[in-house]
Amino acid sequence: MNRRSSIAALLLTVVCAAAPAFAQQAIVIKFSHVVAKDTPKGKAADYFAKLVAEKTGGKVKVEVYPNSQLYKDGEEMEALQLGAVQMLAPSLAKFGPLGVPDFEAFDLPYIFDNYDELHKVTMGPIGKGMLKRLEPKGIIGLAYWDNGFKDFSANKPLHVPADFKGLKMRIQSSKVLDSEMRALGVNPQVMAFSEVYQALQTGVVDGTENPPSNFYTQKMHEVQKYMLRSQHGYLGYALIANKKFWDGLPADVRKTLDECIVEATNYGNDIAKKENDDSVEAVRKSGKTTIIVPNAAERLEMKKALVKVHKEHEGRIGAELIKSIYKETGFDPDKL
Ligand code: LMR
Repeated sequence: MNRRSSIAALLLTVVCAAAPAFAQQAIVIKFSHVVAKDTPKGKAADYFAKLVAEKTGGKVKVEVYPNSQLYKDGEEMEALQLGAVQMLAPSLAKFGPLGVPDFEAFDLPYIFDNYDELHKVTMGPIGKGMLKRLEPKGIIGLAYWDNGFKDFSANKPLHVPADFKGLKMRIQSSKVLDSEMRALGVNPQVMAFSEVYQALQTGVVDGTENPPSNFYTQKMHEVQKYMLRSQHGYLGYALIANKKFWDGLPADVRKTLDECIVEATNYGNDIAKKENDDSVEAVRKSGKTTIIVPNAAERLEMKKALVKVHKEHEGRIGAELIKSIYKETGFDPDKL
């Protein structure tokens, strides 16, 4: 063997030895979220990670970081855009600061009466169109994940709008939610989810709104004496990924991940209602929070006070988008 061919043989040996190690290196997807593991989103994320491990034979590893362990609200979206994490499932109320206020349509009080109405939007062309609007931000919208319908809570009994006057309440970073609270005479405070328990405990805020699953798993029942089963608005999520990362995945891997997303989405959306119902029961059993169920007249009074928020936000969200949602769900603000 001459010198040149022996170097070539040596190189070949090195390359061959390195190849299996390279092939074994898993693609890692960091998936950050802010809620407890034992919630609709927490369970769907863990289920997704399990499916991905199984279906890719370990080629792709999804590392789930729950409970704001890695990033909290306000940080996680930036981390995704910078590629520090690859996947998130932020609440639809948190896309406004990104410059996509369309998703705040989901925050409009009473726009959905139940999951069936909601799914007409999230599983139809309107929902798909909204996810597409994320692409110029370097984000790919992959699916909608359900949580549930929100209840108000405070340390005083709440029944009708007059009971809310002068309270300070924590909200997510949504202009619609800001208007919703102001319509009740509440002073809204935007705050990261991870800080809510302490803010309630120390009296920085008097109350808040959340689906029961978040309320219970964050132990808010320890620091809130009353919960009004107002079910006045929806809270759910968009499953999103860093677009550059996603587009750069090998096509077969992306296909498998897409299949896992469909399965995990069905799983999470199937358990969401029960998770919330179970949380209401757990709160009741704790004996720490009194659960107030409004009667028909009280519910109507709340609805009348809050539905005017829809009109206020036509300019930001788009009158056409709001109208197209009404058309899907049959909601008519003039018929209350
Ligand atoms: C909240 O901040 O109240 C929620 O968006 C938390 C969540 O992700 O469910």
